[in-house]
Amino acid sequence: MADRDPNLPLGADRCEGPSWNELMEADSRPAPESLTSDSYEYRGSDPIPAERYTSEEWAKLERERMWPYVWQFAAREEDLPDIGDYVVFENAGRSFLISRQEDGSVRAMHNVCLHRGRKLRTEDGNADKFTCPFHGFTWSKDGSFDHMPCKWDFRHLEDADMDLPQPEVGQWQGYIFLREERGGPSLEEYLKPLPDHFERWRHEECTTVLYVAKEVPANWKVVSEAFMESYHTVVTHPQLLPFTADSNSGYRTWGDHVNVNLVPFGVMSPHVEKGAGEQWIVDEFVKYNGRSSDNYEAAGDPMAIDVPDDKTAREALGNTMRETYTEQTGYDHSHATDSEVLDALVYNVFPNFAPWGGFMPNIVYRWLPGDTPDWCTMEVRVIARTKKGEEKPRGAERKFLTRDQKWTDAPELGVLGHVFEQDMENLPYVQEGLKCSKNGLVNYANYQEIRIRQFQDTMKKYIDGELGGPARK
Ligand code: FES
Ligand SMILES: [Fe+2]
Repeated sequence: MADRDPNLPLGADRCEGPSWNELMEADSRPAPESLTSDSYEYRGSDPIPAERYTSEEWAKLERERMWPYVWQFAAREEDLPDIGDYVVFENAGRSFLISRQEDGSVRAMHNVCLHRGRKLRTEDGNADKFTCPFHGFTWSKDGSFDHMPCKWDFRHLEDADMDLPQPEVGQWQGYIFLREERGGPSLEEYLKPLPDHFERWRHEECTTVLYVAKEVPANWKVVSEAFMESYHTVVTHPQLLPFTADSNSGYRTWGDHVNVNLVPFGVMSPHVEKGAGEQWIVDEFVKYNGRSSDNYEAAGDPMAIDVPDDKTAREALGNTMRETYTEQTGYDHSHATDSEVLDALVYNVFPNFAPWGGFMPNIVYRWLPGDTPDWCTMEVRVIARTKKGEEKPRGAERKFLTRDQKWTDAPELGVLGHVFEQDMENLPYVQEGLKCSKNGLVNYANYQEIRIRQFQDTMKKYIDGELGGPARK
């Protein structure tokens, strides 16, 4: 395979039209450095083996060499607000309980009875102690062993050895993480530069207002990678083009674990040959919203505006969103850039956590592998800022959609459900195609798919032992 032309300066192979940084310069407010400083590293153009998405052997390597050593997004604080609340978090062949302690702290423990192995809990709830439903071995909510019936029959077990094993726990802006094996970079280190970027956006003030999960018949990486680029918009989501500058998106990668896709909104795509002006951009958006969402009410849509002659659609939409958010949340949003109230600032933290940046509301994705490489669960949360002065409510419960249901069967997703269904038109057939590929290879774009390249590079480092367990020995 040919490599990238070494004489081409980095940054030369970009789409025509306003670059991301030109849009930042044109913003009606000074953009924070997090949105203006580029971070792109060319990582080669070699194809990737399709087997990574289809083979059980590779999935086993992920379970053994990657998942135990990465920080995993396990829950949000508002999922377990009260003392004794617990959440069952299951992924990659492991089951954990995340439990709220007397002092308000959070602990995580393996959700498996140390007698004969029953899962202690299969649903979220509230408990002071975890008593196994099989024979009654009991643990306190901090994971320490409490008692078993007929203690005289277990003289061979020392109480001190009977505490539930506990992974490490980390917390950041309302997100609770765990790492099964102790050691390695701290959560703060691992998330860099996310904590700096999100300082403005304060997700700790937000709560989960919507939470929908769905079984998808494709590998978890096939699905998550479809949310790492906006390159597919032109064919998969053409209705977005009048108001989404898909090919002008910015892509950034940092180190091994974090990347972002910055997708400008309220600007016409370079793929549209002839637009009809700034008002048309807004009208197309409103029209689309009305057509694709069952619970759409034009009267309540703050985006349904008249664009003043001296303003661009982006500026006018920025103004209306700033005002709406200020009113809705009680927090002053007058300093927020157009970008931070309009654009899709889709961050990814390796391997499967994707919080959108910007001000409210924010989408948060998580992808969890299935027990074969051919399916996964995709989860979508929307977190929104709780009105200033009001108590943060308990997070919304997870609604689960089966393989046969559609995202549009969760009407609370509104227009998002329709967009996700368009993605679902591809993903099962990607999985099928990868399994019958003649050359067994996939290719990535040098720029617009750099996040996928970084993700795959990092995964390979874990599998090869450059990162994770073996690297620490
Ligand atoms: S398996 Fe849990 S008490 Fe027996
Ligand atoms: Fe998509």
